Amino acid sequence: MAHLSLYRKYRSQTFGDLIGQDHVVRTIQNGIASGRIAHAFLFTGPRGTGKTSTARLLSKALCCENGPTPEPDNTCEICRSITIGNCVDVIEMDAASESGVDDIRERIVEVAEYQPMMCRYKVFIIDEVHDLSGKAFDALLKTIEEPPAHLIFILATTEFNKVPPTIRSRCQKYEFHRASLQDLVGRLTYVVQEERLEAEPAALTAIARMADGGYRDALTLLEQAMLTSEDGRITLQQVYDQLGLVSEDTIDSLLVAIKDGDVPSIMNTLAEVARLGRDPRAILESMLFRLADLTRASYQLEIGAADASREAALHETAARLGRETVLRLRGDLAEAHRVIRDISLPRLWLESELVRLSQPRVGVPAAAAVAPRVAPAQQAAAARPTPPPVAEKPIAAPTASVPIATPVEAPVPAEVTPVTEQEAAPVAAASGDEATWLSIIEQLTGLSKTLGARLAGTRFAGRNEGRVKIEFERMLDYEWVVERPKPRAALVQAIKERFATDQEPEFVVGRKEIVSDEPAVVELPAEGARLEQLAKEVFGV
Ligand SMILES: Nc1ncnc2c1ncn2[C@@H]1O[C@H](COP(=O)(O)OP(=O)(O)O)[C@@H](O)[C@H]1O
Ligand SMILES: [Mg+2]
Ligand SMILES: [Zn+2]
Repeated sequence: MAHLSLYRKYRSQTFGDLIGQDHVVRTIQNGIASGRIAHAFLFTGPRGTGKTSTARLLSKALCCENGPTPEPDNTCEICRSITIGNCVDVIEMDAASESGVDDIRERIVEVAEYQPMMCRYKVFIIDEVHDLSGKAFDALLKTIEEPPAHLIFILATTEFNKVPPTIRSRCQKYEFHRASLQDLVGRLTYVVQEERLEAEPAALTAIARMADGGYRDALTLLEQAMLTSEDGRITLQQVYDQLGLVSEDTIDSLLVAIKDGDVPSIMNTLAEVARLGRDPRAILESMLFRLADLTRASYQLEIGAADASREAALHETAARLGRETVLRLRGDLAEAHRVIRDISLPRLWLESELVRLSQPRVGVPAAAAVAPRVAPAQQAAAARPTPPPVAEKPIAAPTASVPIATPVEAPVPAEVTPVTEQEAAPVAAASGDEATWLSIIEQLTGLSKTLGARLAGTRFAGRNEGRVKIEFERMLDYEWVVERPKPRAALVQAIKERFATDQEPEFVVGRKEIVSDEPAVVELPAEGARLEQLAKEVFGV
């Protein structure tokens, strides 16, 4: 028996079998029932949501021997030939591989002149239509503008914005929606039953989640799981292994350890996960997926969790973490996920990053340290923490921390000012070299806010045989900046330019290490207002 991939085998063959696109189906069926048939359709939406399937269904509805009909019979010769894809009058082309003007001429313009051979209409289905070249679009436009009565165009695209307005305005537009988690789980459950397999509900939920709204991906992942399952039973563990994800229990204990500042537990859990061969990015992804569920749980929203015990575990973890921590970690880990792509030692980096997140925010009492930086409603915007607006307060921001964490050892004026007043002073007090360093931080912050934030806890530490020496307060900032080629290059170049030297600078890590009981340096994702508030708390100004 020829192997038919699951997603083909389970292609919807009736409008009723198309899930979650009722709005599309209703309009199409009503149009056909009332005899108002458009000549050009444009289907837009994410991949694997039913555009091609619907195009074929629509072709059947129009061409069926017993049609045009809103419910094609699927049994006549024409319907059957469309199902197997060899109907002479239903012409499918993929603009991703046939994007040129000659393709359009050969496949469409020339063919369009002739009457259909078997069917009522000649139907052209053009997939990924946005990939057509400009000239190809022009050629297509001419045909679409004044179509002979027997022609129907169904254009499908995942990128509506790349379809020229001239084409768009000639078409009836239908938007296909991303599948909901429930719909995906429902479809997977159905397919598993049809295939006479068994699957743990949680395994199907994990697959559905990974498919991110697309039926095709969901079915492809299910198929892989089927192929690797030993006894026809698909388990959650197996799906985790297949997808390289980390189990919910492990993720929960990691999150709780971060919240509790339990560094040994963070390190042990990470070591264990690494031993299982999980890649640091997959660990972050697992954490983000879990945090998405935890967010829902902490707002009492529907989760669609597969069974009661897992749901209980979810709520327990949500309660232990608290909504603020959940939201804060989501933002921080989303940022980490973005950044980790360019990290050369991702495993070590992730470890430092999680340890860092587990430490109290500086200068803020522990309770306040976990407070969200912004109201939950603004959470999305906060997903990527923004360092303070250094441009406006170029010097004060990076040095705000210095008085608390590392007393400035620079030649400070004789009357050493008390901490409270020193905040704004370092600018004036800074020696030439220090001022240069501060302005380098400012310059690099303009280049990358993240880099700026990483440099905020650094200081000019003198010269070593002419080599500029920069001291990082924290190992993880040092790693982030110095051990990654791009930030390092930017930094070295700036130093050489601004200090007018050819010598390679020297980077060292200062006394304070990551695992320190003392408050770390001011955590920079503070924004204007927040920064002000922090300053008030710390300096009482
Ligand atoms: N709305 C849906 N309901 C049920 N299955 C779907 C749906 N959309 C897609 N599928 C499944 O995914 C496969 C690919 O769908 P397809 O119509 O080619 O998606 P698209 O053209 O939007 O990328 C189908 O064969 C079917 O198995
Ligand atoms: Mg398609
Ligand atoms: Zn038919």
